[in-house]
Amino acid sequence: MCMPKIALVTGANKGIGYEIAAQLAGLGMTVLLAARDPDRGMKAAETLRSTGCDAHPITLDVTLPATASAAATKIARQLGRLDVLINNAGISGSLSQQPPGTASLDTVRAVFDTNVFGVITVTNAMLPLLMRSPAPRIVNVSSSVGSLTAHSPSGPMAWLPGSAAYATSKTALNALTVQYAKELREAGVLVNAADPGGCDTDLTRPTGFPVHRTAAQGAAIAVRLATLGPDGPTGGFFNDDGPVPW
Ligand SMILES: NC(=O)c1ccc[n+]([C@@H]2O[C@H](COP(=O)([O-])OP(=O)(O)OC[C@H]3O[C@@H](n4cnc5c(N)ncnc54)[C@H](OP(=O)(O)O)[C@@H]3O)[C@@H](O)[C@H]2O)c1
Repeated sequence: MCMPKIALVTGANKGIGYEIAAQLAGLGMTVLLAARDPDRGMKAAETLRSTGCDAHPITLDVTLPATASAAATKIARQLGRLDVLINNAGISGSLSQQPPGTASLDTVRAVFDTNVFGVITVTNAMLPLLMRSPAPRIVNVSSSVGSLTAHSPSGPMAWLPGSAAYATSKTALNALTVQYAKELREAGVLVNAADPGGCDTDLTRPTGFPVHRTAAQGAAIAVRLATLGPDGPTGGFFNDDGPVPW
C-alpha cells in the first residue's frame, strides 16, 4: 500500500506558504503547517481540513532553534519521518533600512536570522526525519531578487533599489541550497531553490512594487520541486519557466 507522503511547510499560515501546503495536501500528502503563532497555525490548518485535506498545525519559529527541535521530536513521535521540507518562512525587513550605504545592521541581522539562519536551523532539525524517507525533497523558497545576474545593469532587477538585507539573504539562501545539495546528493536528498515570482502577499503589499501573480501561482514551482522524481535536479534554482540564473 502507498503511504501518503508527509510534508512540513514553514510560514504556512498565510501567503505562498499556505498555498504550497494547500497544493501539496491536494496531491494527497499529509501536510504539517508550521507557524510561529499557534493560533494562526491552527486556523490555517482548520481551513485546509474543512476542504477535506489532511492538514495539521505545528508551532515553529524558525529563529528559535528550541521550537524546531520540539517540532522534530513531535513529528518523530507521531509520524516517524518526513518526506518533504519546504523552507518558506521569510521576511523582507524594512525597505528604508536596507539601502547598503545606510543599512541598519539590526535589520540585516533580523532578515538573515529568518531567511538564512532559520533555514539551517529547520533543515538540520528535520534532516534525521528526512533521512527516513525513501525520496526526501527539500525546497528553499528563494526569490529572483537573490539572483546576482538579475541585478546587472541590463538585468530584470536593475530597477530595484540596492538592498543589503532581503536581496543578499536570498543570494545566501541560493548558496546554501547548492551546499546542502552537494552534501546530501549521495543520500538521495534533492535540494532546490524556488523562485515564486512577484506575488500579491502581505510581504509585497507594503512595498508598492508591482506584482502580477497570486500566492497560489507563486506556490506552484515549490510544489513541482517537492514532487520531483528520482532523476530530478538537485542544487538548482527554478521558476515556472525553468532554471533561473544565479
Ligand atoms: N510574495 C512574493 O512576491 C515573493 C517573491 C519571491 C519570494 N518570496 C518568498 O516567499 C516566502 C513567503 O512569502 P510571502 O510572500 O508568502 O509572505 P507572507 O505572506 O508575509 O508570509 C510569510 C510567512 O512567513 C512566516 N514567518 C515570518 N517569520 C517567521 C519566523 N521567524 N518563523 C516562522 N514563520 C515566520 C510568516 O508568519 P507570521 O504570519 O507569523 O508573520 C508568514 O507565515 C518568503 O520566503 C518570501 O521571501 C515571496
